[in-house]
Amino acid sequence: MRHDLQAVVAVDNGWGIGLHGTQTLVVPEDRRHFRLVTGRGTVIVGRKTLLDFPGGRPLKNRRNIVLTRDPAFAVEGADIAHSAEEALALCENDPEVFVIGGESVYRALLPYCNRAHVTRLFADADNDAFFPDLSADPSWRLADPGEAREHEGIRYAFQTWERAKGE
Ligand SMILES: NC(=O)c1ccc[n+]([C@@H]2O[C@H](COP(=O)([O-])OP(=O)(O)OC[C@H]3O[C@@H](n4cnc5c(N)ncnc54)[C@H](OP(=O)(O)O)[C@@H]3O)[C@@H](O)[C@H]2O)c1
Repeated sequence: MRHDLQAVVAVDNGWGIGLHGTQTLVVPEDRRHFRLVTGRGTVIVGRKTLLDFPGGRPLKNRRNIVLTRDPAFAVEGADIAHSAEEALALCENDPEVFVIGGESVYRALLPYCNRAHVTRLFADADNDAFFPDLSADPSWRLADPGEAREHEGIRYAFQTWERAKGE
């Protein structure tokens, strides 16, 4: 099983990622950063996060793999996987694979990731969805803290976290 997947996520101070099915704290530059990072790679996304995309449609120019346990679920322009293992098998030969949320998909696939692109938003939002706190997990290290940026009073940074060697 491959272990070179990459997570892409934006978190607030408490590693919160969303409220009521959507991302509440957003800086415009993060959208561009997301497109740059994921490029033309494969993205793995949960059914609920897909619903939050414009028109509930898969992302353009990338292979989309949608995770759902619903055997009848289908969406044009995406491949469907019914388990983490099935998603991993589907993308076995894809050069670059990005896990793009939400919470349940991050939790299911983080063990298969060796890198996390984390947009750290140094602010406190209300959240009901969270990403695991990598700073509290000794198997992850901050490889690149990113430069300090600011948008309308929100400080943020594009960080890169990597799984520590031997973990
Ligand atoms: N800040 C960020 O970077 C970021 C990025 C993405 C999402 N988010 C936020 O994350 C929140 C959504 O997270 P969420 O956990 O509620 O939803 P989610 O992970 O997007 O989707 C959950 C659904 O995915 C399917 N699923 C998950 N794990 C599965 C597995 N192992 N096997 C088969 N199907 C699986 C199930 O679909 P079925 O119910 O169809 O079976 C499940 O209900 C939202 O607030 C969103 O805004 C934030």
